[in-house]
Amino acid sequence: MTEGKFRLDERFTMAVNGFTNERLLQYARRVMQRLVNRSGIFLIQPEVKLSPADMPGTMVLSCRRQGKLALNMDESYTLAVTPAGIALQAEGDIGILRGLETFLQLLAADETGYYFPAVVIRDRPRFPWRGLLLDACRHFMPLEVISRTLDGMAMVKMNVFHWHLSENQGFRIESQTFPRLQQIGSDGLYYTQEQVRDVIRYAEMRGIRVVPEFDIPGHSTAWLVAYPELASGPGPYLIERKYGIMDPTFNPALEKTYTFFKSFFAEMSRLFADDFLHIGGDEVNGNEWDANPGIQAFKKKHRLEDNRALQNYFNTRINDILKKNGKKMIGWDEIYAPGLDRQAIIHSWRGREALEKSARDGYRSILSNGFYIDLLQSTAYHYLNDPLPADSQLNVVEQKNILGGEATMWSELVSTETVDSRIWPRTAAIAERLWSPGTVRDVDDMFGRLDNISAGLEEVGLAHVKNREMLLRRLAGSSDAHSLRLLVGVLEPVKEYDRHNSGKPYTFFSPLSRLVDAAIVDPAPAREFEKLLAIFLKNRDADTFKTIMCTFAAWEGNHERLLALVRSAPLVGEITPLSRDLAALGNIGKEAAAYIFNKGKAPDDWLEGAKQAVLAAAKPKIELELRPAKAVLQLLEAVVPVSRQGKEE
Ligand code: ACM
Repeated sequence: MTEGKFRLDERFTMAVNGFTNERLLQYARRVMQRLVNRSGIFLIQPEVKLSPADMPGTMVLSCRRQGKLALNMDESYTLAVTPAGIALQAEGDIGILRGLETFLQLLAADETGYYFPAVVIRDRPRFPWRGLLLDACRHFMPLEVISRTLDGMAMVKMNVFHWHLSENQGFRIESQTFPRLQQIGSDGLYYTQEQVRDVIRYAEMRGIRVVPEFDIPGHSTAWLVAYPELASGPGPYLIERKYGIMDPTFNPALEKTYTFFKSFFAEMSRLFADDFLHIGGDEVNGNEWDANPGIQAFKKKHRLEDNRALQNYFNTRINDILKKNGKKMIGWDEIYAPGLDRQAIIHSWRGREALEKSARDGYRSILSNGFYIDLLQSTAYHYLNDPLPADSQLNVVEQKNILGGEATMWSELVSTETVDSRIWPRTAAIAERLWSPGTVRDVDDMFGRLDNISAGLEEVGLAHVKNREMLLRRLAGSSDAHSLRLLVGVLEPVKEYDRHNSGKPYTFFSPLSRLVDAAIVDPAPAREFEKLLAIFLKNRDADTFKTIMCTFAAWEGNHERLLALVRSAPLVGEITPLSRDLAALGNIGKEAAAYIFNKGKAPDDWLEGAKQAVLAAAKPKIELELRPAKAVLQLLEAVVPVSRQGKEE
């Protein structure tokens, strides 16, 4: 921070000085429009100028060359704001894109209007690989989802879009060499090559690499529907509708498997520009291999001791093919084995062990374990998941092998309507973990900034907030959704794989339109309640008491309205037990807070009954958890029972 403020008014202009290209210009134009929309100012010179305008109120962008979109690309920039003007400088144009996002983040307001605080920021990323995986297979993700996701990524300075394109549930890209893949393996839900080129271009214009994943030899049912002769089992194969680890696996003992991949990867290597291609390699259960006498004989002949060795053999053959096509291999941590090509990158998902072990052995690696955003864990958990924690035992050279990480959006339980709310805003916290110094890890501070970023994400088209309203309206039918909105504000979806274990028979076709789909992780009303409760327990002041009593009363009063809604909206019926629990929390909370505020003592049997009721309310129901139950339990802990009278104080 330096002295003063740069005031934003209608004289503000933006000019490029020195090197320019289409990417820089278009990005700058979009940033100008976002600034105009945020501030409501009618600029006199709204066009981005191509010459340095030497007038007050100018922001000058200057760089020296076109950045190369590749691993270790230069994303550094310097942003200097003074009361007289703003200068954004970088070596390459990609640094300017990153700096423009920081510039927008700095926009502030006071009673006089909008301004940018005077600062000098010299910035560059901590890790070179900051990615987001989107699974376009378990549920297909249309182009508009991809483009708004890329816009969100650019906003939080992420630079790798990992596109998961093949799975048991679908093969999602056009192959001109093997058109049966998309014709038979996709239900018609796939990207044409022209669309893929558009996505790559769209990403490139935002400084984002596109790394495609073709998951082999397992996770491959959809390919084998089209080409059963390449499978390890007898088939026949059908596109998978359920979720989990499946048997269908490519046959690594057949030469024609490699002939097929030679042509396939030659085609895909031409289509995708990035140096890296992800081969998956995860969760090969070996059932088909064990049951196939030809494969057993092949293993014996090649002295392959077990299925792991057989998969390593397969990976080596695939790696040779990729190399011939100018690509480097990346794969899930199962690919990590003795003799693996030094150029290969290990993608750690089952734990951190492979990440660190491979880094020690001289391999580069990235982390996704702890960044599985599909598992609906807290933002704080992801935020504190550091690929290179302060107590890392790796030496300086080994540390350099850790390239960063990726958030993973697996799509078993998301649709185009809900995927944004599963990715955002939590992925912004992961983006910060991967960009900012490891010492930046204050969770409260992060949440303070996250709400701002979340609003900004809406500005670039993400539907993580507005679609929740749409889902609630659909649930409510023609009735008022107010009671649902209040309820969903304090609910969280169950975590990890609990939705799959909930008894609902989830498949590709299942509804993803219930209250659990509208619920999000870390909903603001629940977080605010926890903050308020902590203040009340500390200060026990009249103002906080009054506010918290209002919240409890609202919870209690909501149940009647919800019951009225259920009569006209049957889909809401399953929610009734949760609503009743919330009313109970409200009722108990009111009494408990009153005991505490009035310094009263509660009858022991009331206190015991209240605890049991809160514990019952804390149990997940219809795949949802009532988040405030824990906080209300804390409140009860602070209530003094009658039986303690005389023993304390
Ligand atoms: C994975 O989640 N199976 C990579």
